Amino acid sequence: MNIAELISKMSLEEKASLLSGLDFWHTKPVERLGIPSTMVSDGPHGLRKQDQSGDHLGINDSIKAVCFPPACAGAASFDRGMMTTMGEAIGKACQHENLSVILGPAVNIKRSPLCGRNFEYLSEDPFLAGEMAAAMIEGVQSQHVGTSVKHFAANNQEFRRMSSDSVVDERTLREIYFPAFEAAVKKGKAWTVMCSYNRLNGEYASQNKWLLHDVLREEWGFDGYVMSDWGAVSDRVKGVSAGLDLEMPASGGSNDARIVKAVNDGQLSMEDVDAAVTHILTVIDRYISNRKPETEWDKEAQHDLARSMEEQCIVLLKNEDNLLPLKAEERVLFVGKFAKEPRFQGGGSSHINCIRTESALDAVNGTVDYAMGYETTEDQSHPELIAEAVQKAQKADKVVVFAGLPDSFESEGYDRTHMRLPDCQNALIDALLAVNPNVIVVLHNGSPVEMPWVHRVKGILEAYLGGEAVGGAVANVLFGKANPSGRLPETFPVRLEDTPTSITYGRSGNSVPYSEGVFVGYRYYDRKDLAPLFPFGYGLSYTTFAYSNLKTDKETMTANDDIHVSVDVTNTGACPGKEVVQLYVRNPENSNVLRPIRELRGFEKIELLPGETKTVQFTLNIRAFSYWNITCHDWYPENGTYHIEISKNSREPLLETPVVLTGTPVVFEPVTPDTLFMDLKKNPKAMQAFSSLMEKMMKIFSPDESKSTAASEAVTAEMEAAMFENMPLRGLVSFGNGAISYDEIAALCDQLNQK
Ligand code: BGC
Repeated sequence: MNIAELISKMSLEEKASLLSGLDFWHTKPVERLGIPSTMVSDGPHGLRKQDQSGDHLGINDSIKAVCFPPACAGAASFDRGMMTTMGEAIGKACQHENLSVILGPAVNIKRSPLCGRNFEYLSEDPFLAGEMAAAMIEGVQSQHVGTSVKHFAANNQEFRRMSSDSVVDERTLREIYFPAFEAAVKKGKAWTVMCSYNRLNGEYASQNKWLLHDVLREEWGFDGYVMSDWGAVSDRVKGVSAGLDLEMPASGGSNDARIVKAVNDGQLSMEDVDAAVTHILTVIDRYISNRKPETEWDKEAQHDLARSMEEQCIVLLKNEDNLLPLKAEERVLFVGKFAKEPRFQGGGSSHINCIRTESALDAVNGTVDYAMGYETTEDQSHPELIAEAVQKAQKADKVVVFAGLPDSFESEGYDRTHMRLPDCQNALIDALLAVNPNVIVVLHNGSPVEMPWVHRVKGILEAYLGGEAVGGAVANVLFGKANPSGRLPETFPVRLEDTPTSITYGRSGNSVPYSEGVFVGYRYYDRKDLAPLFPFGYGLSYTTFAYSNLKTDKETMTANDDIHVSVDVTNTGACPGKEVVQLYVRNPENSNVLRPIRELRGFEKIELLPGETKTVQFTLNIRAFSYWNITCHDWYPENGTYHIEISKNSREPLLETPVVLTGTPVVFEPVTPDTLFMDLKKNPKAMQAFSSLMEKMMKIFSPDESKSTAASEAVTAEMEAAMFENMPLRGLVSFGNGAISYDEIAALCDQLNQK
């Protein structure tokens, strides 16, 4: 496709028509010029291809497809390779079904466990979310099908999702809410980006030029098209000049007409329209010129793949007395409706019409006893269901309770109001514990839950929403056919009140202040020194691992250096297993800004046979040591002593080594008459510039011993120093007895700032 030539042949009306959808899922064709219509489809963990009536809520039917583990589970694998494999499988399905773009991955940060859509999101940690997203994108796009990383940006709640204003400071956006998108664009090379519904700092994402153009295109080099989330457009004309290329779904032609009028009226430039058309055609061309309609979509094979993937995602949270794995000769009781009808995906636009589901009960094929225990449609206990379960539990060696959140508790479209499991499930677990000491809980949920029984049950498996084959995967892990190797991609807090946003989340009306700043997830719990229920990165195995030999290739580095880290990991247990080696950088204690104590900067998942040792290598670039500096508006590798920590999880460093970063020039804020003396003192040049004024001031201030009074004696040196430190430069005018003028100070500031 010669895009420039095509554009030169297009009328304004044809160009404008390309900038919105034909219907719910298609781009518009321009038949006269041979530009085809292409289809996009939800995602992200399988296809929701609607052949007939379209909707964005998962109401109307879609074709049968395979539901892979949703992002909440996928991220728990900490396995880039697995995400790539999932992406490839989905990409193949897209080729088979002639879908040009799959609408995902969704990389919004889990700001609160209450977000109804957390099951679709990857992590509370931007690095993990970015790495996993990039890996998945690589897989999909290897099949010449596009992805749409969504929802850009700061879309972290469902409450008022189409109008809320996320008020986020610059550093927090850069350090927490942007990096996953940045990785998806720079590393994953996502073909498209979907903007979010919400406003960001006062402007709708769909018409936010700073977001869609300055950051996304200019800084990150994005070259595909930006599409709106479904119905996210407010002012279409503003959107075009801000960089929103494609409006989805259709606007019934009304916004196309507005675009035409705005160009004719001189309110919108033809260059902006041409740029949007170019971006859309670039992606269409990428797709159609590599079309592989003959691609096979083997759904049965993908179902098996979904099972083996979920085995990599399940997180073993507790295994007292090595109760797990279960043994064939033991009398095992499965309790809970989810054992028979697992909850394995969430509601809304990602809901997949799966080819079949596999329950844990199906998978064990009649070898265990079963009691339903509770209903999923209500919170209330059914005494007869509990009684039946208790009676069967008395005769069992081990009881496995399948618990979790029913559909009504979490979904796209609304947030959770609490973090509890349904009461009937907690009551059931209590009742079972009263008659059997060997209770194991398997959880099906898209986001953390409170666990009032955590210290009384002996085993806990977090299966998350694990895709259509979750039951088989859970059974394989329970019986030791698979060794669990998932790690929590988010902190599990003890209770909702412990979470960083618990006071305001969902309660702050339209304007949503992200007042916790960069202290999201483990960054918050660490700073607050608050013990979580289970920390970020946590997960056990049926085997054990030992770490040794942490090495770095340098002890001192500058901003131009990469640092290479290696560590040996040995499987010290009796069965093969996978370990997630986690690398955190601990920031300097005396940083100029308040930084998280430690941040995940590397992870590798490795497989080890019993007795086997592998050396794991990491390369860290300077970004791993940098924070976003709001004075220079850039990443800033602050000088200081950092520590490389190799850890089991965010709370359990095993080995550490220091590295000193030097040579970064100090960046000072511009000096103004409002600058405080305590800040001026840090800046040697400024101190020099102001030295003569300070001397003048000192003379005025120096106490006259002869005039000492009871009142003046009460002024301690500490107090005097503190008053001075907290005084702005203009204080020299107020307290200088007319000896120093405001203009004098302002002129010195100007001179200094010009240098
Ligand atoms: C969701 C998107 C989804 C779109 C199309 C929206 O409501 O936020 O994630 O891709 O609908 O179904």
